[in-house]
Amino acid sequence: MSTSGSATGGAIDLAVIGGTGVYRLAALQDVESHELETCYGKPSGPVRIGTLHGRRVAFLARHGEGHSVPPHLINYRANLAALQTLGAVRVLALNTVGGITDRFGPRVLACPDQLIDYTWGRVSTLCEGESWTESGGEVLHVDFGEPYTRALRIAMVQAARRAGVDLVDGGCYGATQGPRLETRAEIVRMRRDGCDLVGMTGMPEAGLARELGLDYACLAIVANWAAGAGPDPDEVITLQDVLDNVAAASAGLPALLAAL
Ligand code: HPA
Repeated sequence: MSTSGSATGGAIDLAVIGGTGVYRLAALQDVESHELETCYGKPSGPVRIGTLHGRRVAFLARHGEGHSVPPHLINYRANLAALQTLGAVRVLALNTVGGITDRFGPRVLACPDQLIDYTWGRVSTLCEGESWTESGGEVLHVDFGEPYTRALRIAMVQAARRAGVDLVDGGCYGATQGPRLETRAEIVRMRRDGCDLVGMTGMPEAGLARELGLDYACLAIVANWAAGAGPDPDEVITLQDVLDNVAAASAGLPALLAAL
C-alpha cells in the first residue's frame, strides 16, 4: 500500500463510491491518496481520504477516475475491501441509472430499497478464489432480503430532508450486465418485474458489501429515461445527455453529504 497527502489517520465516517459522471468529491479537503493492493487484487483507482465538514470521508471512483473500467470488469471485491481496509464501515454508493417508472425521471435522486440482479458472469461473492480457500473456505449465506442497510437509508433520507434536497425514498433497482444499454423489450420486462431504476453497477457490489459486513446504501442519480420508458419512446440516449443530467442532479450532493 502506498500513501500520500496530509489528512491525519483515523476512522472513516463515510466512504463514497462514485459512479459514471462522479469522479471526485470537490469539497473534500486535506486529501490523502491510497494506492492499495488487496487480497482480491487492485481497486479501480486510488482511494482519496479527506475531511468534509469535520468528518473523515473516503472516495473511490468505481470506474476509475478516467472512466476506464466497464461495469462487468470492475473489481467490486477489491474496491470494497480497500475501503474496509482503510477503516470504512459505512459505504454510500452513488449509481448513475436510467428511470423506468413515472417517479424516476431524469435528474431525480433516489434511495432504492430493493433490487433485482440481472447480471451474469461477474465475480459476485467472496466465496471463491485463492483468498477464500486460504482463509478456510467457509461458505457464506448472508441474509439479503433487505439488500440495503436500513439505518443508512433512513439517515440518508433524513439528511436529504434537512438539506432541502429532493430525494425519492424507495424503489427497486434492476442491475443489468452492460456495457450496452437495454432494449425496449428488456425495459418492458423489467417494469413488469417491478423495477423502477436500471443501472449496471448495483450488483454484485451490494451483495459483496453484505458479505463483508459493511453498511451499504445506494444513492441513485437518474440520468435518462430507460429505453422506451419516457414520453418519447423513440428517444436515443446519448452519453452527453447522461453526463449533463448527472451533473445537474449532483448539484444537491454536497448539501446532502454535509447533512449526512
Ligand atoms: N441503463 C443502464 N444503465 C444506465 C442507464 C440506463 O438507461 N443510464 C445510466 N446508466
